[in-house]
Amino acid sequence: MTTIETIGIIGAGQMGGGIAHVAALAGYKVRLYDISGDRIEKGIATISGNMARQVSGGKLAEDVRQEALARIGAAPNMADLAEADLVIEAATEDETVKRKIYAQICPVLNPEAILATNTSSISITRLASQTDRPERFIGIHFMNPVPVMKLVELVRGIATEDQTFEASKEFVRRLDKTATVSEDFPAFIVNRILLPMINEAIYTLYEGVGSVEAIDTAMRLGANHPMGPLQLADFIGLDTCLSIMQVLHDGLSDSKYRPCPLLVKYVEAGWLGRKTGRGFYDYRGEHPVPTR
Ligand code: CAA
Repeated sequence: MTTIETIGIIGAGQMGGGIAHVAALAGYKVRLYDISGDRIEKGIATISGNMARQVSGGKLAEDVRQEALARIGAAPNMADLAEADLVIEAATEDETVKRKIYAQICPVLNPEAILATNTSSISITRLASQTDRPERFIGIHFMNPVPVMKLVELVRGIATEDQTFEASKEFVRRLDKTATVSEDFPAFIVNRILLPMINEAIYTLYEGVGSVEAIDTAMRLGANHPMGPLQLADFIGLDTCLSIMQVLHDGLSDSKYRPCPLLVKYVEAGWLGRKTGRGFYDYRGEHPVPTR
């Protein structure tokens, strides 16, 4: 089986940073790439802050945090990922962006290295076909926030070899997370079920059935969800929510997946949720305030 020691991560945002966090804590050497040094620095600072949260919560010792942080190195150039045994692409949910990344990364990678994507919805088989290694390409889909969520979805493309799958399964096991296997169909399992629920919550708002606060309170207290669906949409990012709904709508050609026009409007406004300071809630003040 492929031995994985060094992990390359493409994308130092919410997901890439979270993956770097858990991989470093599991003892892997991590190399973090993004399109600018600033983004990498910001990503590492966020990881450091999130680990500090775990220390103050008594979940982590400070010396373990320091050792883990020391295992994370910046990779300002794609070529800095050449030594990686597993590269996980956690870039924006945009197929064109991902294709460009694969065209750049494949020539510098060790021929034996596994290339994985953290895509939350795009076909693994189609993405794999854009690379030089469909046999060593796989979907390893983490949930947000990565350090807290126990699940990882593993998705094989049509060409993914057993060795790639087994090595990925072992990687997830070493992260102390639980893997579920999903077939390669639009949005896999979690998002196939979760995103239509979120989209329906947005329709419920759009049709005036309830306010933002009423819908979120209803689902938190009436269905015991840790976050209301609109709060969760802001947390995931409304652009990501829309792109997953579009993948479901296009990929399954069923009108039940049509994205709510109100979701489209928020994305067009650039109100993408927490990351831009505004979505279904306005986060710019001391407490989040509903925007409708
Ligand atoms: N890094 C490290 N620790 C974190 C963290 C992070 N990024 N975010 C939260 N935590 C820790 C906190 O430190 C806290 O730890 P303690 O218990 O030791 O205090 C714990 O998690 C709980 O956090 P909070 O007290 O701040 O807040 P909370 O109790 O409201 O929990 C939550 C926050 C874990 C995010 C919870 O609200 C939750 O589970 N929400 C639902 C998340 C969810 O559904 N995620 C899946 C999204 S879908 C997806 O990711 C797939 C996709 O492709 C779109």
